[in-house]
Amino acid sequence: MALKSRHLLGLDGVSGEDIQLILDTAVSFKEVLERPIKKVPPLQGKTIVNLFFESSTRTRISFELAERRLSADVVNFAASGSSVSKGETLKDTARNIEAMKIDMVVIRHASAGAPHFLSKVVASNVINAGDGAHEHPTQALLDMYTLREKHKTLEGLRVCIVGDILHSRVARSNIFGLKTMGAQVSVCGPATMIPREISRLGVPVYHRLEDVIPKVDALNVLRIQLERQEKGLFPSLREYHRYFGVTKERVDRADRPITILHPGPINRDVEISADLADGEHSVILQQVTNGVAIRMAVLYLLGSSN
Ligand code: CP
Repeated sequence: MALKSRHLLGLDGVSGEDIQLILDTAVSFKEVLERPIKKVPPLQGKTIVNLFFESSTRTRISFELAERRLSADVVNFAASGSSVSKGETLKDTARNIEAMKIDMVVIRHASAGAPHFLSKVVASNVINAGDGAHEHPTQALLDMYTLREKHKTLEGLRVCIVGDILHSRVARSNIFGLKTMGAQVSVCGPATMIPREISRLGVPVYHRLEDVIPKVDALNVLRIQLERQEKGLFPSLREYHRYFGVTKERVDRADRPITILHPGPINRDVEISADLADGEHSVILQQVTNGVAIRMAVLYLLGSSN
């Protein structure tokens, strides 16, 4: 079985069959990660470069682990300390790297569309590890994997994405992927943080947690991106927590357990209370574990298509 595209640039337009294939392949790789020797040979002889032009902890480490678990040779690139700081363009950086015979490129970039551009100028497979406020497909895939593991199916699952939807690549990829897989997706946040075009994506919008919590099976709580709040979209962190903080007290009012996801990094007691993040219905650390299996599945499926 193979994916229809040789790149993973986003989940917009990716078919349900391809998402299913990635999720099912990740099940086998999760089993590999539970063995005493967590290494398999499929990408032996392949070289992968991780191009991180923006900071990352989870995604960068998770991709590198996934690549090494699949026996690939790995090269890490960080924009600081590279020739990017001397004015080199993305195209020239990528072409120079490719001249060193790289098979696959994983890229995180602050500009939406950077991975798409790259896929047009290099011959390697390109994987988007987050581009601006556009898409973060492997994050959404690991979120879907974690939800499917917990709830058995995504079909009909009611998931609300809470918080700063405006700046969120995680929200966009989750909306595309979850809707394709038949989930009922909604969003909740302050009006200033919900993009006007959201209605085109066909998701109901809520502005009060109290209105949506009784109607969902899972809440995917987004990080308040403190670095992108230059426009004063909410009065203060305390105000934000008061109205949109997902707390144990709020969630416990529902008549059933609600699964709590967060892509990380967490601002504790801002968008989510510490007791809820560490509580029995939180799957935040399972998301991190599953991220390695999902990235192994994506790398394996794309790497085997060459
Ligand atoms: N979830 C996520 O993308 O985290 P990092 O920014 O640490 O990679």
